[in-house]
Parts: sequence; C-alpha cells; structure tokens
Amino acid sequence: MRFSPFICALSLCLCGVADAFSQAVPRPALPGTAPGQPASSQPQPAPPPADAPYRNANLPVEQRVADLLSRMTPQEKASMLAGSGWMESTPIPRLGIPAIKMADGPMGVRSWLGSSAVTSAANAAAPIEATSFPAGVCMAATWDTPLVQKEGQSIAQEVKALGRDMILGPTVNINRQPLWGRNFEGYGEDPYLSGRMGVAYLQGVQSEGVIPSVKHFVANNEEYERHRINETISDRALHEIYLPAFKAAVEEGNAWNVMSAYNLVNGAHMAENMPLLHDVLQNQFGFQGFVISDWGSTYSTSPTINAGMDLEMPGGRPAQKWMDLPQTAESGNSDLWLTPEKVLFDLNAGHVTQAQIDDNVRRILRVIVGSGLFDHPHPGGGEVDTPAQRAVALQGATEGIVLLKNDGSLLPIDPTKVHSIAVIGPNAGMARTGGGGSSLVRPKYAIAPLQGIEERAGNAAKVTYALGVGMEGEVSAHDTPEARAADLRQAVEAASHADVAVVVVGRDNKIEGEGHDLATMDLPAGQDELIEAVEKANPHTVVVLNTGDPVTMTRWLDKTPALLDMWYGGQEGGHALAAILFGDADPSGKLPVTLPKRYEENPAYGHYPGQNLQVDYAEGIYVGYRYYDTKKVEPAFPFGYGMSYTAFTYDNMGATPRLAWAGKTPKFGVTVDVSVQNTGTRAGAEVVELYVHENKPPIDRPERELKAFQRVDLQPGETKWAHFRLDRSAFSYWDPATRAWTTDPGDYEIQIGASSRDIRQRKVIKIPASFLQPR
Ligand code: BGC
Repeated sequence: MRFSPFICALSLCLCGVADAFSQAVPRPALPGTAPGQPASSQPQPAPPPADAPYRNANLPVEQRVADLLSRMTPQEKASMLAGSGWMESTPIPRLGIPAIKMADGPMGVRSWLGSSAVTSAANAAAPIEATSFPAGVCMAATWDTPLVQKEGQSIAQEVKALGRDMILGPTVNINRQPLWGRNFEGYGEDPYLSGRMGVAYLQGVQSEGVIPSVKHFVANNEEYERHRINETISDRALHEIYLPAFKAAVEEGNAWNVMSAYNLVNGAHMAENMPLLHDVLQNQFGFQGFVISDWGSTYSTSPTINAGMDLEMPGGRPAQKWMDLPQTAESGNSDLWLTPEKVLFDLNAGHVTQAQIDDNVRRILRVIVGSGLFDHPHPGGGEVDTPAQRAVALQGATEGIVLLKNDGSLLPIDPTKVHSIAVIGPNAGMARTGGGGSSLVRPKYAIAPLQGIEERAGNAAKVTYALGVGMEGEVSAHDTPEARAADLRQAVEAASHADVAVVVVGRDNKIEGEGHDLATMDLPAGQDELIEAVEKANPHTVVVLNTGDPVTMTRWLDKTPALLDMWYGGQEGGHALAAILFGDADPSGKLPVTLPKRYEENPAYGHYPGQNLQVDYAEGIYVGYRYYDTKKVEPAFPFGYGMSYTAFTYDNMGATPRLAWAGKTPKFGVTVDVSVQNTGTRAGAEVVELYVHENKPPIDRPERELKAFQRVDLQPGETKWAHFRLDRSAFSYWDPATRAWTTDPGDYEIQIGASSRDIRQRKVIKIPASFLQPR
C-alpha cells in the first residue's frame, strides 16, 4: 500500500548485551520536574474521544497526523524521537500510537531479541527462525527486479507473521573496494543497478504495509573505524555514485524510511549531516518519511534533530546498558542523545524549536499512519518459511549464480559420463548462507553444497567428500601442520578417484561480516593450495566461490576449467548450486561487481582505509567498471559478465531520440530496441545491458555507464525484442561548476552488451540542443 502524502503530494557489532539489560539508569532531571521523575509520569491530558479525527481511517493521512500532533504534549513528542528498546520505537498509549517493532534484515527476518552476538548464537534462548534469502550481492547478480520485489514481499510477510512492523533493509551502499566487510549485503558497484534493486525490494516490502529501511545513508563503504572515519567525497562522486540508489528509493520507490550511516561525510557525522540529510535527502529528493539512526550512530542532540534525523535507535534501558559498556565507548559510540530529557533541555535552551521537533515527529507519525500500522497492528502468530517463500529463496540463489568459466563444456555435469564426484572444501560440507553481523538470519534448515549435490546425484553418481582444509579459526583440530597435511592428502585422494571434482571455497561469516573489514582479498586458510592440489589430481575440476567479496585467483585461474560464483545463497544455496551443476537450470547470473585480478588494481587502492581517521575518496566517480574500463585495466572478470550453457546473439539495434508530448510538455527521450536470439539448444535467460558513452564530453566522463537492462527468457531458437526508453537522466552528469545535473547536446554512443567489456551492438545518436531546452 502506498500512502497518500507520498503519492500526492558497530565496530563492536552491538555484541552480547541486550539480554542483560535490566537495571534502571538514573537520568538528569527534566526542567521543571523533580530529579528522577520521568517525563511520562507528568500529569497527562485525558485520552481523546473515540471519534477524534486521527482515529478515522477514512480521512487523509496528513489530516490524521496533524490532528494527532495537535493533541500531543511536548513530552510525548520528545519521547518519540528515541527508541524504547533495542528494536522498538516509543509508543504513546494515551493516543493509541503503537511502537514500531523492528527486525533486522535485509536477507530475511533476523531475530530482534538482542544484539548480534545474542541473536546469531546457535544456543540463543528463544531463537527466531525465518527464511534465509540470498545475500544482496547474489540477488543483484540475478538482475531480476520482479524477483527482488517478490523477495521483499516475502520477507515482509514473514515480518508480519512474526508480529513485527519494520525490516531494516535494503542495503544500497556501493561496493567501492573489495575489502568492505559488508559488500555481500549491498547490490554491487553500480549506482543504477543498486537503485533498481533497492526500489524493487522496498516496493515489495511496502506492498505488504511493512516499513523498509533503506540503509546506510550515505557512503558506508568500509567498517574500519566506522564511528569515527571521516570520508572526503566530492559532490560529483556523491551525486553520481553514492546517492543515486537513495534518490531512486525516494523518488521512484516512495521509501518510508532511510537509515543514517555511522560514518562522517565531509566533516559531519551522517546523523547530523545537514547538507546531505536535510538539503539533499529531504529537500532535493523530497523524502517525506522518517530517518532512523543506525544503532548508536548519533553523536549530538540539537544538531541531529535540526538536520532531520528523526528517531534515535536503540533506546530505553537496553540502549543505556549498552552505552555503559566500556567497549561501546571504545568503539566510538558515545552516548544516547535524543532522550526526552536531552530533547526538552535543548528545546528550553532554544537550541531546537518546537516546530522542528514537530516536523521530526510528523515524519514518524506519517509512516505509522500511512503504512497502515496505526489501524492494523501486526499481531503475529503467522507462518514463516512457507513453500512459497522457500521457492523465492531458491530462485534467487539459482538465478544469482554466475558461470565465470566453462572450458571444454565441463558443465553441466553429464550423468551418462560422470559416475563419481568428489566434493571438496571448507565451504562444501557446511551451508554458509550469508556474511556475519546484523543481517545474518537463522533459518530452520540450510542446504550445504554437499547436501545439494548428494540429493541431486542420487544413485546416478557416487559422491565423496573431503574437507581439504579447515576454515581459518573454525576448528582448532584442523589447524595443526599434521592435520592440514592429512586433510589435503584426503582431498587429493578423493579428487584423483572421481570423474569430476567440485571445490567449494570462500570465506565464512566471521571473516566476512559487519564490524570489521577483510584483511586481504586472498582466499583464507590456504585454499589456493587446496585448489592447486585438487586441479593437479583431477583436470576436471569445478571451482565454486562461496563469498560476497572478490577473491584473488591468479594462482589457479588459468588452470581452472570451470568456475562458478554462488556468493552467499541463503538457505537454498546448496540446491541452487546442484541445479546449475547438473544443468537443471541454465546459469543466467551476471556480475554486479568487477572481479579484479589483483587487489592493488582496484580504484580505491591507496585511498582506503585512510589515515588518522580520514579517508579521501580520491578516485572520485571512477568506481568499479567506470575505472577499469576508462583506465583500461584488465580485470579477471568484468562487470556484467556471466556465461550460459546456451548462446545468445544480438541484432537489429535501433536508437532514436524523440520529443514526445506528455500533455502540453514535450519530454525528451531515446527509444532503443534490440533483438536477442537464443541460438543454442537449451532454454535460458540473457541479461541485456545498455550502456551510454558520450563521444566528446566537455568534462571527463567514464567510458561507459549502465543506464538500463532487461532480463529476457528465451527458448532454444526463440527471438525476443528488448525495448528501452531512456530519459534525460541517462545522458546527464553532475556538473561541479553549476552543482546541478547537466545534459550536453551532441553525439552519444548507445552500447548494448552482454557485459561492460562485451559490447555487441552500438549506435551513435545525436541529441540536438533544441531537445534539451527547458520549456
Ligand atoms: C547495522 C545496521 C543494523 C543495526 C541494527 C547496525 O550495527 O549497521 O545495519 O540494522 O545495527 O541491528
């Protein structure tokens, strides 16, 4: 449901504390109250009558919100700016305003019962289980926006079934460099793709009357010193790379909520970043929903409120207890800043106006009323992990797998020829569903690659298993030199006796997760040696990457005949992998991120993680393929790349600039059409990618930029047309001189390709100045 005002108009990872929150913490007295007397115990007005306008579901949202606001006391308003618990906003029972009950995401509903350490622990007292969907980077690799929308909807259904109201996702931060511990959560390196995915996800969530949180605004691209790091980012890079997904979420997705990031941008913490929160998000993009802080990411009272940061989380006793821990302060969290006492103190002192507080509260109320939560609370008690939700998780995991190499058509496995398979690796026998931290969902079950392969092979092939090497720091018994030698020997033995070896390598949720970055792009635990040894023993080796970040492949890539990237595939990852290996599904995933050859070749190299708590985004707009393609740096695999078991040809490209009349206003656009044919013998899906290149830009511009894409399902021999309509934004750039988007008249090449480095059709178009004139 879209609601009317929107239509018309921790480095410490929040660890191990929430279950111990029991003691009341003394607070400074409110002005005019006796010390220790909380705001809520002030004499309260009587509850409004049953026919008060705000209770009338038939009235417009804005009218109901205005009525509610007019009935609230300053104390009640102040109290709404902070949470009441670890995952709950503050309710006002006198007026019937419910708490917003949240749950972490974005890859499913994570337990809300406490911090990461509590909720992710295998032995948590009251585990909350839900469907574990693939990581964001895997969903981005599907390039399937309807599927991502279905994923958002499925997750929202589980949110409601579990009696919650809000899911803390999608994550739309850009993959700036390969070592960010949370790259797996986001949708890769391209702002357009991230925007499409983010909008699809949040629309799915909102369609169920559940509140999404588009996070983390903005430029949360490293975990290193996440509370203290100050990022210097040019206006142009912000507008072209880091902001577009948020812009799309607001302008196209009518997002109800945005989460502010921990980091500072250009000198100000994001929770109090007036130029970005107030001027850009709220004024320029027209965001009408509320801003929530990341957990413990506020650092002041009135600057935060005045910048338009509306709800501080967490709140209440759990938050205070957390703040009292020495490690919380060490990590850079300082205090709770939007407690009613502090808000009212700053109000009385004139640092913040009542009108400003009203605006913050109005934004929260607008979402509570507009989302339907006020009239229809979510009582819970529903089913989760239903067959329909599992099917979405499986489809995402399958479509997201990227086939990177397939020499000699080793894949799909031919059961008439392959009678034995050795499944090897630290990620083979264990289902590694996602990266670590607040996004990690606890599923009812999870299918490991080995289980998926065994189930699929049935009696047709003998499946053997060898660990090969223990994951770093996982089981100490596997860490001795003797144990390592024995594990490797077993793997070589298994590989040499099998027709095909499948080596599943990667990272786990301790190495890759929230609160810390990766130490290296190299595979941990000596997995390079494992791959080399297995490939020596068996030339028919398939390497499977099970991780969210790129890995260095130089040591073995040339000798590897077949390579798949399965990312983190959620609970159905093992089934999805088996479906691709055996050819039950055709691989259709494409890389949402460039896989560089060497870490040193990534554009942020030398400008990450920063020094003295300062990091300069010196590469500017040259992030991902914008860098590799423009500066002609050969990656291991380019952005947008992914093979199939079938083959596609592109033909008949047309591109025409037009002025179409929308009522009395002429609107500039370019229509682009191309036909795609499946020339192979199997059904498959091709992602058609459209890039724009400006021939003679007056300012430096990337070699190409993704501006549209379409996933086309094709039967063998079938041809379909892909139609695109580009608007002015597909040709424009952020001009630092005018501090505005600019579109040059002139020649542009429209490029249609199967990856950023595999352009199959090109057409130059001329955009006359007359088409661009404002009318
Ligand atoms: C993360 C957020 C998360 C929040 C609540 C923070 O540490 O950065 O993404 O939603 O915790 O768990």
